[in-house]
Amino acid sequence: KITLINASTPRLHVKGPSGPLQVQLGDSVLLPCFVRTPVPLEELEVEWRRSDSETLVLLFQHGEERGEEPEFRNRAHFFTEEISRGNFSLFLTDVTPADAGTYRCSVHTDTEYGNTTALIQHVERLVVSGAPEAVSARVGDDVTLGCSVDSHVPPEKMEKVTWNKRDASRESVLVLLFEDNNTWPDSSHERYQGRAELFPAEIHKGNFSLRLKDVRTEDKGDYVCQVHTSYLSANTTAELQVLGKLWKHHAHILVLIFCFTALVLVLLLWTLMIRGRLFEIKRFWPIQLNTLKLHKN
Ligand SMILES: *[C@@H]1O[C@H](CO)[C@@H](O)[C@H](O)[C@H]1NC(C)=O
Ligand SMILES: *[C@@H]1O[C@H](CO)[C@@H](O)[C@H](O)[C@H]1NC(C)=O
Ligand SMILES: *[C@@H]1O[C@H](CO)[C@@H](O)[C@H](O)[C@H]1NC(C)=O
Repeated sequence: KITLINASTPRLHVKGPSGPLQVQLGDSVLLPCFVRTPVPLEELEVEWRRSDSETLVLLFQHGEERGEEPEFRNRAHFFTEEISRGNFSLFLTDVTPADAGTYRCSVHTDTEYGNTTALIQHVERLVVSGAPEAVSARVGDDVTLGCSVDSHVPPEKMEKVTWNKRDASRESVLVLLFEDNNTWPDSSHERYQGRAELFPAEIHKGNFSLRLKDVRTEDKGDYVCQVHTSYLSANTTAELQVLGKLWKHHAHILVLIFCFTALVLVLLLWTLMIRGRLFEIKRFWPIQLNTLKLHKN
């Protein structure tokens, strides 16, 4: 249906948003577009396009919703029930930074035409951060390597998180895989089997920090945490330094000495207490006996 637009085409008064729209990455956004008086469906044609690229986002034609552009497929919808009430608002889901821009809603009837625009001003990017400094650990220690999503991306949008160890040969070894809301420890490289895990209680906060247990000398190096959503990916690198075992042994000896001293002290105290009690019984027993005797008399 083509409406000839010229000076004589009566203007249809189409209303849009009152200001620019702010959206968080991965969220949905409603781009308002409506007319005060409903239009008969059979003569209605509504077209949503990006103003910059003229990409067709969504079309309502012959009483049906249509949208073929792969960029917006399954992400852009009308509120079907609302169309007959003159509400042609666009509902866009899974918003990405590429969606920022101006959108034009054009409404045609057999005799009238009008349009409005909506601006998606800002879409937050995916930001992943870790610890600013290298992490040191001793052989045999457990260590935490930081990886947090700073953007306000809902956790269910995290499709995949991988922790990879970058080797001297620049080859990557999979330390841990998180996908479909689960960690998959079996897919870890054998060197990390049973030694790598996330903090389950932290995942919903976007905290994918890695717990590496029983650190070995060969664990030293760079660990890359890569976070993927359906459209974006970002990473952070944590450096692990592994120090010798020497002090670990000393620490063991210190702990042993401390335990031994504590044991001796406890034994000593215990003996003293028992001695003390015996002494008290010896002291008071005769008196009690005497009192008893006195009572009998
Ligand atoms: C259009 O419909 C949507 C979904 O029901 C609603 O949120 C929005 O407020 C409606 N707009 C107008 C102008 O009625
Ligand atoms: C992530 O969780 C770990 C373990 O509980 C914690 O040490 C770390 O501080 C958390 N990071 C952030 C950014 O909250
Ligand atoms: C990590 O992100 C940087 C940009 O911040 C990118 O250049 C690099 O290729 C990414 N690394 C991997 C392993 O994807």
